[in-house]
Amino acid sequence: MSRDLFLWGVATSAFQLEGSPHADWTSWDAILDATPDVTNHYHLYKEDLKLLKELGVNAYRFSIEWSRIQPREYVWDEEAIAHYQEIVDILIKANIEPMITIHHFTHPLWFIKKYPWHTEASIDRFLLYTEKIVSKLKGVRYWITFNEPYVLLLGGYLEGCMPPGVKDVSLALKALENILICHGKAYENIHSRIPDAMVSVAHNMAALAPWKRWNPMDRLLSRIAKYFYNHSLLDAFLTGRLHIKFPFRKALVIEIPIKDKIDFFGVNYYTRIHMRFNPFRKMGIELRHRDIDGYGLTDMGWEIHPHGLEKVLTYASKLGVPLIITENGIATSRDSRKIRFMKAHIDTVERCIKKGLDVRGYFYWSLIDNYEWLQGLDARFGLYKVDFDTLERKPTKAALYYSYLLKSRDF
Ligand code: FCB
Repeated sequence: MSRDLFLWGVATSAFQLEGSPHADWTSWDAILDATPDVTNHYHLYKEDLKLLKELGVNAYRFSIEWSRIQPREYVWDEEAIAHYQEIVDILIKANIEPMITIHHFTHPLWFIKKYPWHTEASIDRFLLYTEKIVSKLKGVRYWITFNEPYVLLLGGYLEGCMPPGVKDVSLALKALENILICHGKAYENIHSRIPDAMVSVAHNMAALAPWKRWNPMDRLLSRIAKYFYNHSLLDAFLTGRLHIKFPFRKALVIEIPIKDKIDFFGVNYYTRIHMRFNPFRKMGIELRHRDIDGYGLTDMGWEIHPHGLEKVLTYASKLGVPLIITENGIATSRDSRKIRFMKAHIDTVERCIKKGLDVRGYFYWSLIDNYEWLQGLDARFGLYKVDFDTLERKPTKAALYYSYLLKSRDF
């Protein structure tokens, strides 16, 4: 990776901007009775890509909607592939580095019904899709195999609030194993075709703290959660072994062939979470966001805690690969808060670089307002505000501020 090019970007995901009639989340949301009203980016993409130029970013992270590429098990939609290739071509022509996420939470409905992640057969299905994408799309060097595998797992296999809606610890562990095996194989596939490829996952890392420092149970809980949620994946990349530790139980070790199979490490950072032991809650865990630093809570109730970014980047640096912040952003309808959030986090990135951490990029989440999973359309993450009735996009003051920041910071 050339040292001189710091990637200043924005991040999006296909389903959150385009929806898809064939995605598992579409029928999931119908069950929840809140049909995702999307931004129609699938048709307005040319206009949206012009916004990148307007911002002056040199990188763009976006995802491929698997259910558009493979709407049915034996049907490949070549037009959909050509659509994503066109996006790549437009970016390259505009000197904007594309970073593609192969899997960002959603699946084709047939996949999640027939081959959910805890089944062995999920591996081959996913790899066929990966093979298709990687062999067809030309000009892409940066790849994210999975966005936030642990969030997918918590939502899909522990909380059950995301497809496939399972609540079972042992199936969750099997699903995690299969997903990480897929990462390893996809890594090899990408490198066999693109020798200088840069491949990673985007790992959601949170600052996790005990609710009450003096309480040994809260401290124990936050230590265990910190290890599982933030660190266990790092260790799996370092050793090829995933250690799962539950309180008062023997640790479980799962061998997974992913040792060193990352070229950089993608970190998604948003917030700090305080944890309390509560025997009346599921698994004895109660979570809360508290406004401790005075930065406030976002519209989604998340604590704004810029210092946590330094903490998680410092942990992640033990991998010895370059770090890229693949997502960081705030849900708020107030431009001034968005600006304050952005400045505080980019100041933190600057501090990390000065202190010697090898940080090579920052992607703001997100380019335009979009569909926020369980939250729907109320969470305004966009640098451009979207009027969901007229579909008009308007720059927030934070968009202007980001353009200014990325020109003025000399990383
Ligand atoms: C992250 C997801 C992304 C978006 C942001 C707000 O966890 O990767 O899709 O929803 O949160």
